[in-house]
Amino acid sequence: MSRPGPEFHVISLFPEMFSPASLCGVTGKAVERGLVGLTAYQLRDFTGGSIHPVDDSPYGGGPGMLMKPEPVFAAVEQVSSTAPPGVSVLLTPQGRRFGQKAAARLADEKRVLLFCGRYEGVDERIRPLFDEELSIGDYVLSGGELAALVIIDAVTRLVPGALGSDESTSHESFSDGRLEYPQYTRPAVFRGEAVPDVLLSGNHAEIERWRREQSERRTRARRPDLVAGDRSGGVGRGEEPGDD
Ligand code: ADE
Repeated sequence: MSRPGPEFHVISLFPEMFSPASLCGVTGKAVERGLVGLTAYQLRDFTGGSIHPVDDSPYGGGPGMLMKPEPVFAAVEQVSSTAPPGVSVLLTPQGRRFGQKAAARLADEKRVLLFCGRYEGVDERIRPLFDEELSIGDYVLSGGELAALVIIDAVTRLVPGALGSDESTSHESFSDGRLEYPQYTRPAVFRGEAVPDVLLSGNHAEIERWRREQSERRTRARRPDLVAGDRSGGVGRGEEPGDD
């Protein structure tokens, strides 16, 4: 029987960074239950046996080292040939912005191959090897590993059965292009701050309406780029720039 979520295949110079994701929290439980797969490969294992470098200096000069194409091609081709069909993703700060929509799309794949770039960059000729390039935000990490972990987490929690109840992701922030409404638990009054009356009213229609309003108000105040018609950095209702 096929699993409900993707097999993640990660290629990295630091595959040990992925062990905690296989062992802890939502991703760990999902791996344990067979809802998703997670295998991390050492890029150096694809250098052809002897100790070949995985990086080299850039033609034309300039600072830093680049990842060489040969081990990257060998690793991606070998891993893709044994894994089920799916998408291969290069993680770089130059990629399209990863967001909730991309997470939902990847959750439907059978296999997601994530290649973690390191050093100052990659040889340009590796780019066509990948179906897409993704970035998790406009900042530069030391490598793609943390970005891969972010993606694995965001995708896994959308796989049916990965969270306690299927409801859990349906109301949260970004699921409908809005931020989530404010939530409260006991006590009803804490340090003089009372829970809004409507939430204690038992009137479910009123509660729904209040939550919708709060969600819209909060989105407008904190993330105007997510609101329809606003072009101050967003690309329209429910979309993040570059997230598709
Ligand atoms: N590698 C380095 N920075 C990154 C980023 N912001 N997103 C994805 N991969 C990266």
